[in-house]
Amino acid sequence: MSISYNSEKKIFKLDTSGSTYAFQVFDENYLIHLYYGAKIPDDNLASMYYHGGFASFSPSNEKVETEGFSPDMCPMEYSCEGAGDFRVSALAILNSDGNNVTDVRYTGHKIYNGKPEIKGLPSLYLNSESEAQTLEVYTIDSTTGAKVTLIYTVFENYSAITRSVIVENTSEKTLDIERVYSCCVEFPQMNYNMMHLYGKWYKERSLQVRHLAHGIQSIVSKRGSSSHYHNPFVALADDKATEDFGEVYGFNLVYSSNFSAEIEVDSSNSTRLIMGINPESFGWHLEKDEKFYSPEVVMVYSNEGIGGMSRTFHDLYRNNLIRGYWKNKKRPILINSWEACYFDFDDDKIVSFAERAKEMGIEMLVMDDGWFGERNDDTSSLGDWFVNEKKLKGGLGSLIDRVRALGLKFGIWYEPEMISPESKLYKEHPDWCVHVPNRDKSIARQQYVLDMSRKDVRDNIFDQIYGLLSKYPVDYLKWDFNRNITEAGSALLPPERQKEFFHRFILGTYELMGRITAAFPEMLLENCSGGGGRFDPGMLSFSPQIWCSDNTDPIERLTIQFGSSMCYPDLCMGAHVSACQRTGIDTRANVALWGTFGYELDPNKMSDEDKEAVKSQIHNYHKFYDVIHNGDLYRIISPFENHYRAVWQFVSKDKNKALLTSVVMRRPETQAFFVRLKGLDPLKYYKDEDNGEVYSGALLMNAGLNLTDTDCSDGSSFIKYFTAQ
Ligand code: DGJ
Repeated sequence: MSISYNSEKKIFKLDTSGSTYAFQVFDENYLIHLYYGAKIPDDNLASMYYHGGFASFSPSNEKVETEGFSPDMCPMEYSCEGAGDFRVSALAILNSDGNNVTDVRYTGHKIYNGKPEIKGLPSLYLNSESEAQTLEVYTIDSTTGAKVTLIYTVFENYSAITRSVIVENTSEKTLDIERVYSCCVEFPQMNYNMMHLYGKWYKERSLQVRHLAHGIQSIVSKRGSSSHYHNPFVALADDKATEDFGEVYGFNLVYSSNFSAEIEVDSSNSTRLIMGINPESFGWHLEKDEKFYSPEVVMVYSNEGIGGMSRTFHDLYRNNLIRGYWKNKKRPILINSWEACYFDFDDDKIVSFAERAKEMGIEMLVMDDGWFGERNDDTSSLGDWFVNEKKLKGGLGSLIDRVRALGLKFGIWYEPEMISPESKLYKEHPDWCVHVPNRDKSIARQQYVLDMSRKDVRDNIFDQIYGLLSKYPVDYLKWDFNRNITEAGSALLPPERQKEFFHRFILGTYELMGRITAAFPEMLLENCSGGGGRFDPGMLSFSPQIWCSDNTDPIERLTIQFGSSMCYPDLCMGAHVSACQRTGIDTRANVALWGTFGYELDPNKMSDEDKEAVKSQIHNYHKFYDVIHNGDLYRIISPFENHYRAVWQFVSKDKNKALLTSVVMRRPETQAFFVRLKGLDPLKYYKDEDNGEVYSGALLMNAGLNLTDTDCSDGSSFIKYFTAQ
């Protein structure tokens, strides 16, 4: 049993293989947090109760007898607005009297095997009921009748817990949710580094590490997508923790729209973290008996440093988030037309790409943007999802036949949530785009956003996509999203529900994506948002891979891929070899091998030498697929810490195979170069498949591999493959 309840002490204890999480039903049915950290066997954790010391400005509750209690000074399991706790609150409900004082207290609970789905939202799933246990804790705000259910699912084998919240209006009056975070987690100290992933278009998911300070530190999105700017991931690492040692707590929100993670350090040096939907652009009107479901947060605990946290996320996402036909299948190596020719192609050019690609061993041709409507640049046609037969003479069927006759699969690009003002769809339905009355609509990349909160809009787009995909054998679809949402509102929502727009939009997108994947279960879906602007677990639950970034320069990709690897597994990271000239083609391939691996260049313009190189890269992809995509990642030298080299390694789960990759970003000052490998079995002997040398795991991990004589010119790289003897 991973969840237990001590009915005498009223303590809930949630145990995973490596962690314990505990909280208590306290006086007056307040829920008080007790502990989150390394696994402890004790049943009675009441001694963990702490409070921040007396402060006359911190209100108390006269009915509570226990010394020192104040909602402002105690670790609250789910913090509420306006009833004595002045720190960041997870929940605020505006009641029909017009105030937002909120105060939920425990009423009961249920423990069961399995995990509930979250209505309308993506979430982690179980492969069998016995994989996880769930605790539902029922609370009520007795003044308003808001019933709030806190849901905890414990993945015992992964040191992971997911959390979400349901708010139900059990009163006769209406309620308005102002904020409902998915989790609140309390820590009795502040000695943590906050780690998060910031960025922008072309420079996604750089790692930022900063020590916690008094006050609130936060990361948010209010762009209508999880965004390039901040990823919905945050970790608190003990300030002495490193990549390989120490305590780290990781939090990742399974959501693709506006999010917020707030961390407050109070005057008693204790820390509170809340994570969920960004309340700034949110509101939800609840009529009697209606329920609101929050997205879920995945919480991972590691006492094996940052690397341990990442590997737990990777295993969990590979097994319990990514789903469907392609979950455990080897993905085809694709060639994408975008960087090769942008909008400038016709059927013959696409077929010529396929011919050359086939000669090199590439398995799928993806025709990117530009095949539909009148689209010859980015000024038109989004929403008109019919084939441009001026470009594709003979139509899509004939093109697909020609590509498939070569033995290649065929993939296509869509941007279903967008509409160009220059389109038939816009002329017919100008009110279908996101807008508010009496205000100009901001335009970005020459396009507006379709109102995905509307069923009629979604039905139209579904019918268009279904019409084409059910007629032709399409093996892959790239789902793009190339701008953020402004003037957020829907023509169909009444004024009191306009603040629901952003959440309704993403629910609509999820619904449409779900309909498409259900209709074409064997079609491989790749998400994309101008590169990696929606690189989040919500999207991962629909598409097993996401395009990491429009930046395909292998040196720039190092920070993008190292950052992404904080919580996202390798086999979801869309990575292609492009025509970028900064390094040779081998380094481009060595970096792309980390991800889904494909090509994005004009194969007609390649030298014979490069074409030969591609053949051997494809051989490597097949040879190393298992160790990379089913193995464990160890980051050895991070480009965020070292300006000269980046080094990483994959080790198979049985520790019999290891693949080491090293890339020189800038010629190092010294030539001497030893790399200490990680994750091997010290007692096993490993053969370097390049030169036949055999070393013990202990030598490779303690003394390190002597790489002094390797090429260290800018942009050079190598891979080394080791097999246990
Ligand atoms: C942005 C994507 O990231 C690119 O790969 C490409 O698909 C373009 N959109 C097409 O417009």
